[in-house]
Amino acid sequence: MKTYSIALIPGDGIGAGVTEAAWAVLEKAAARGFRLEGKTFPWSCAFYKETGAMMPADGIETLRGFDAILLGAVGWPAEVPDAVSLHGLLLPIRKAFVQYANVRPHRLLLGVQGPLRAENFDILCIRENTEGEYSGAGGRVHQGTLDEVAVETSIFTRAGVERVLRFSFEQARTRRGKLASVTKSNAQKYSMVFWDEITRLLSAEYPDVEVTSYHIDAMAARMVMAPESLDVVVASNLFGDILTDLGAAIQGGLGFAASANINPDGTAPSMFEPVHGSAPDIAHLGIANPIAAIWSGAMMLDHLGEHDGARRIMAAIERTTAQGVGVVPGRHKTDAITAAVLAALD
Ligand code: NAD
Ligand code: IPM
Ligand code: MN
Repeated sequence: MKTYSIALIPGDGIGAGVTEAAWAVLEKAAARGFRLEGKTFPWSCAFYKETGAMMPADGIETLRGFDAILLGAVGWPAEVPDAVSLHGLLLPIRKAFVQYANVRPHRLLLGVQGPLRAENFDILCIRENTEGEYSGAGGRVHQGTLDEVAVETSIFTRAGVERVLRFSFEQARTRRGKLASVTKSNAQKYSMVFWDEITRLLSAEYPDVEVTSYHIDAMAARMVMAPESLDVVVASNLFGDILTDLGAAIQGGLGFAASANINPDGTAPSMFEPVHGSAPDIAHLGIANPIAAIWSGAMMLDHLGEHDGARRIMAAIERTTAQGVGVVPGRHKTDAITAAVLAALD
């Protein structure tokens, strides 16, 4: 039987509970036709407090041997500064494994009511995931004095922009054939103009895809006012980050937003995680919605080629939400939602 090795990184806060939920559903889905072998790594802010690092020095090399990574959430700002925890675990994995396409679907699950009148939207956000505003290039000088200077430089490379745009054109081809490329080229006259130029150049190779360039501010409004006009949306790292919390909001909340950090070339493992973070405000209550994490697990199966398993998990999620379970934040406990999805899984 085909066996996949999965690295589990529950991380901090609600990360543990939602990863456990996703894993339980994945294991049940796997009982038919394939096997999943999970190994859990305790890398988190608690691990940092114990060891002084978010993961061991050979953490990346350890993960490299797995077929995929399932992650919960990273960050416990009361104990460890976010800039330390995220740059010590989540962001290095995305970069080291060249997971350049961060894929985030936004649509309303059956039975879920979003805050908008629009109901029939189905948006696939693709966020550049290795460079741009998140390159980490910069520094501070004269720290703590009145002359202090902080510089943080966005880095956009031709290779980096081209590969995520190509990936997005290909995705649009498999969907409704529409691509929205999001920049801010009216204000940022180097990097964003560069991105628009590459979009135009590539569009000649994809005559079957209708591509439109939008400014990020107009896109934010469009996602609220006319989300059903959108198909695939591609944006830089930071813009994509912001747009996908907006996407989560219009699909009913962060508890529903799934994501896949994909290495499309298969040269390293891809990583699957909900869009949300560790939610310290509710972490002790047992009410985190596990659906985003479970959906991310389905995306993992799709990536591994287990399409039937992925389809069965999505059907189980929607049977659950159609019954009203897990649709109103806080009404059902994490465990109850997970049990309902497990019961609905054929
Ligand atoms: P957050 O996503 O953790 O929470 C934002 C709001 O959404 C909170 O009110 C929270 O209770 C709610 N929420 C989030 N997920 C939920 C779920 N599954 N069910 C119900 N409600 C949910 O964002 P934040 O508060 O800005 O960040 C908290 C910590 O998480 C910070 O350390 C941040 O850096 C980190 N973070 C990590 C990731 C990640 O690991 N991928 C993503 C975002 C934020
Ligand atoms: C996300 C998160 C991360 C990001 C943070 C925690 C660094 O917000 O995955 O959306 O900005 O990429
Ligand atoms: Mn985010």
